[in-house]
Amino acid sequence: MTLAAHSSAKVAVIGGTGMNSWPGLEITSSSIINTPYGAPSAPLVRGRVAGVEAIFLARHGEGHKLPPHAINYRANLWALKQAGVEQVIAIGAVGAIAGWFAPGALAIPNDLIDYTWGREHTYFDGKPGSSLKHIEFNHPYAPSVRKALVDAAKAANVEARDGGVMAVTQGPRLESPGEIRRLKQDGCDMVGMTSMPEAALAAELDLPYACLAVSVNWAPGIGSGDIHGQIEHWLAMSMAKVRAILEQGLPVLSKD
Ligand code: HPA
Repeated sequence: MTLAAHSSAKVAVIGGTGMNSWPGLEITSSSIINTPYGAPSAPLVRGRVAGVEAIFLARHGEGHKLPPHAINYRANLWALKQAGVEQVIAIGAVGAIAGWFAPGALAIPNDLIDYTWGREHTYFDGKPGSSLKHIEFNHPYAPSVRKALVDAAKAANVEARDGGVMAVTQGPRLESPGEIRRLKQDGCDMVGMTSMPEAALAAELDLPYACLAVSVNWAPGIGSGDIHGQIEHWLAMSMAKVRAILEQGLPVLSKD
C-alpha cells in the first residue's frame, strides 16, 4: 500500500521553531517513513483540524534537535509528496529587518534571497538516474497558497502582511550587524534560516508552497536588547495567531 492510499490529507504544515507540534490538530496517526533521500526530520503526523485532514511535520525533528543546515529538506518534501499532499504551508520564525515587521507581527512573504550554502538543495543533482529540470522561480512562494493564507488571516481577524522579502541565511548562528546591513541593502525585510532549499524543492516536486512568517526579534543591529529573550517571548505570544490562521486556511486549501 502506498502512503497516499491511506491519507486523504491535501495540506501539510511544516512547523518550525516554536511549533514543534500542532496543538489543535486531533492526531489520528503518526508514521515513520523513509525516502530515497533518507529519513525526514520526524514522523508524519496525521490528524484533523477544522473538519479536514492535515499532515504535520516538525522541521527540526522531535525535541527540536536539528539545526537549519542539517535538516534533510529533500527527505521532508519527498515524504510529503509521497503522502499525497498537494499544498504545503511552512511556518517560520524570523528576525525583523524592515521597520514594518516588529516582533509579534506576521507576514506572508512573496520573495526570497538565498544566502545558504552546502545544503542538499535539489533533486536534479546529476547523480546516475536523475533527470534535469531548471524550475522557474519567479514566485518562490506559490501565489495560490499565499492568497489562501492572506484570506485566512483576514477571516481569523489576525493582521498578516501580504508580501515581503525573506533572506535565508545559513545559521545556526544569528547574523552580525554588518550582515544585516547588507541584507537590508539587498532589499530583504526579514531573515530566517529554513525557506531554502525548502521552497525550491517544493517547486521541483510541483508542490505549491508558501510561508507564514512570524517576526520574533529585531535582527542584530536593527533593534537592541536580548535577542534570545525576544525570541522566547514573541514565539509564546504568536503561536495562537498562527493556529487561528491555519484553522481558517486549511478547509479552503483542502477543497478540490
Ligand atoms: N536571524 C535568522 N534567523 C532567525 C532570526 C534571526 O534574527 N530570528 C529567528 N530566526
